[in-house]
Amino acid sequence: METKKYYHEFETIVGDILTHSEFQKLKKIEHHGNGLYEHSVSVGYYSYRVAKILGLDYESVARGATLHDFFTESWQNQKKDSKGIKRIKEMHGFSHPKTALVNAEKYFDIDERQADMIVKHMFPLTPIPPMHVGGWVVTAVDKCVATKELIFENTRPIKRLKSFILKAS
Ligand SMILES: [Fe+2]
Ligand SMILES: [Fe+2]
Repeated sequence: METKKYYHEFETIVGDILTHSEFQKLKKIEHHGNGLYEHSVSVGYYSYRVAKILGLDYESVARGATLHDFFTESWQNQKKDSKGIKRIKEMHGFSHPKTALVNAEKYFDIDERQADMIVKHMFPLTPIPPMHVGGWVVTAVDKCVATKELIFENTRPIKRLKSFILKAS
């Protein structure tokens, strides 16, 4: 089946990320009622599919997209004491792309394009747009997946990928 082929290829490209102990910490973080792990896998998978259709470097996009929200501490409980511009900079929507980039660079070998797609995926909330088409794919797919999660609280490829994770861990 065609879809199965895509799942398999996606797993081959990002399997080391999905099974990494640090990345698995995302399973404990709530995100749009769907879990940050599930959200990241969905954004990774659909970005991979779109990148393939557009003839982009889909392996690079799949890995960058999967890592786009790689933060391992729940932001809902974080206390903020700062004020003004500093407070705004510390707000989760602005700060988490940088945290994700720090983690992605710490645990995986990422290139300049992937770094750009991670750190700019919140555009236009963060004002600097992605430099490459792959980054535009990730920022658009992230918004579509987040909207879908808010409405349906579930995403299609997850069940298949979850069984893969259980086998791998
Ligand atoms: Fe994000
Ligand atoms: Fe996201």
